[in-house]
Amino acid sequence: MTNDANKWFWVWLSGLGLFILAASTGVLMRFGIIMGFPYGLQYTNVRHAHSHLMYFGWVTPALMGLILTWLPRVTERPLSPQHQKQFRIVLIIIFILSVAAYSAFMLYGYRPASVGDLSLPISTILASFNMLAWYGFIFVYWRATKGLERKRPLSLRLWDAGLAFMVLASLGAWGVAVTVIFNMRDPVLSAALTHLFLDTFSEGWFVLTLLGLAYAVTPQAATHPWASKSENLLIMGMPVVFLLTVPVTSLPPFVRLIASIGGLMVGIGLWGNIVILWRASSSAWRFPLVFLALKATTGLIITIPTLAIWAERSLLRVSYLHWLLLGFVSGGLIVVAEITWEKTRVPARRWFNITVVILILTLIPLTPLWPPALSGMWPRQAAAVATLGPVIVMIIMFAKGLIASRQP
Ligand code: HEM
Repeated sequence: MTNDANKWFWVWLSGLGLFILAASTGVLMRFGIIMGFPYGLQYTNVRHAHSHLMYFGWVTPALMGLILTWLPRVTERPLSPQHQKQFRIVLIIIFILSVAAYSAFMLYGYRPASVGDLSLPISTILASFNMLAWYGFIFVYWRATKGLERKRPLSLRLWDAGLAFMVLASLGAWGVAVTVIFNMRDPVLSAALTHLFLDTFSEGWFVLTLLGLAYAVTPQAATHPWASKSENLLIMGMPVVFLLTVPVTSLPPFVRLIASIGGLMVGIGLWGNIVILWRASSSAWRFPLVFLALKATTGLIITIPTLAIWAERSLLRVSYLHWLLLGFVSGGLIVVAEITWEKTRVPARRWFNITVVILILTLIPLTPLWPPALSGMWPRQAAAVATLGPVIVMIIMFAKGLIASRQP
C-alpha cells in the first residue's frame, strides 16, 4: 500500500486499543459473575459500557478509517488535504467521546449522575455528542464523493447505504435518549427504539459497510450478476429488520409480518453476497463469511414467529450477537486491514480466528440448549477463561502493529 494508506493506520491502531479495553471489560464481566465485581461496579452498567465501546470506539472508527483508505482508489480521485484534515478531526473527536461515554456507562449506566447541583444523564449526553460527530463524518464524506452520481461503484453505493442506515439507527438512539430524559416508561416503545438503534446500526451500518470494503479489496466480485440484486434486497429489507428481534408477542401480527418480509429480503441478500465473495475472494475471507452465513441463516429462521419464540427462549441472543459482531464484523475488519497494510503491520489473524471460535463455543453451555445434567460451575469458568484468548491476541497485534509503524 502507498503512503496515502499509511496515513490512516493510526485510526486502525487506536481502534485496536479500544477493542482491547472493551474486550477486557468482557473479561471483567465473565470473571465478575464468578468472583464478584470490584469497586461496586454493576453488571448491567459494565455490559452497557462494553457494547458501547465496541460499537462506538472499535467498529465505527475502524470502518471509517478503512473507508478513507480505500476511497481514493474506489472513486479514482485523491482526498483533498482539507477533507483529510476534517476527517482527522472528526475521528479524534469520535475516539475521545467514545472513551468518555464508556467511563460514564461503567460508573452510572443510564442513571443520572450528580454534577454540582445538577443531576445529568451524563452517559446519554456523551453518547449523543458522539452521534453528532458521525454526522460530521457523513457531511465530509458527502462533500468528498460529490459529483460521482453517475459513476458510483458497488463499494461506494454500499458505503452510502451503510451511512444512511447509521443515520436511521441514530434516530432510535435519539428516541432512547428522549425516553430517558423524560422518564417515559413504555416497555414496547423502549424495546422498539433500542432495537432500531442496535440492530440497524449493526446490520445496516456495520454489515453493509464491511461488504463495501470486501468488494473494494475484491473488485472482480462486484461484476457478478447477483451483486446489485443482493444489494437491492438488503437495502429494501433493512429498514424493518430490527423488528425481528423485538419479542414476538409484543408486536401486532401485521407489524410482525412486515418484519418477516424484510427479514426474508435481508437473509436472501446476505446469502447472495456470501456466495459471490466465497467464490471470488481470498481464503482469508472464509472465516468471517462462515459467521455471516450463520447469522444470515438464523435471521431467515426467525422470520417464522414460532421459531423466533423458540430462539428467544433458548437465550441465543448473546451468541447470535457475537457470531455477527466478533466473527463476521471484527474478523472481516482484520481481513481488510491485513490486505490493506500487510501482515507485518496486521499480524496474528489466524490466532484471532482460533481464540474467537473457542470463545463462541463456550457460550453454548451457558444456554438452556445445553443438557442440565452436564452443567455445573464449569461452563461459567470455561466461558471466563475463553475471553482471555482474543484479548491476548489483540494486545500482540497492537504491539507488533505499533512497532512496525515506527519503522521507516
Ligand atoms: C473478545 C471479545 C469480546 C468479549 C470477551 C465479549 C464479552 C461479552 C460479554 C461477557 C457480554 C455479556 C453477556 C451476557 O450478559 O450474558 C457481552 C455482551 C455484548 N457484547 Fe460482547 N464481547 C466481545 C466482543 C464484542 C464485540 C466485538 C462486540 C461489538 C462490536 C460486542 C458487543 C456486545 C453486545 C452488543 C452485547 C450485549 C449488550 C447488552 O445486552 O446490553 N462484543 N459481550
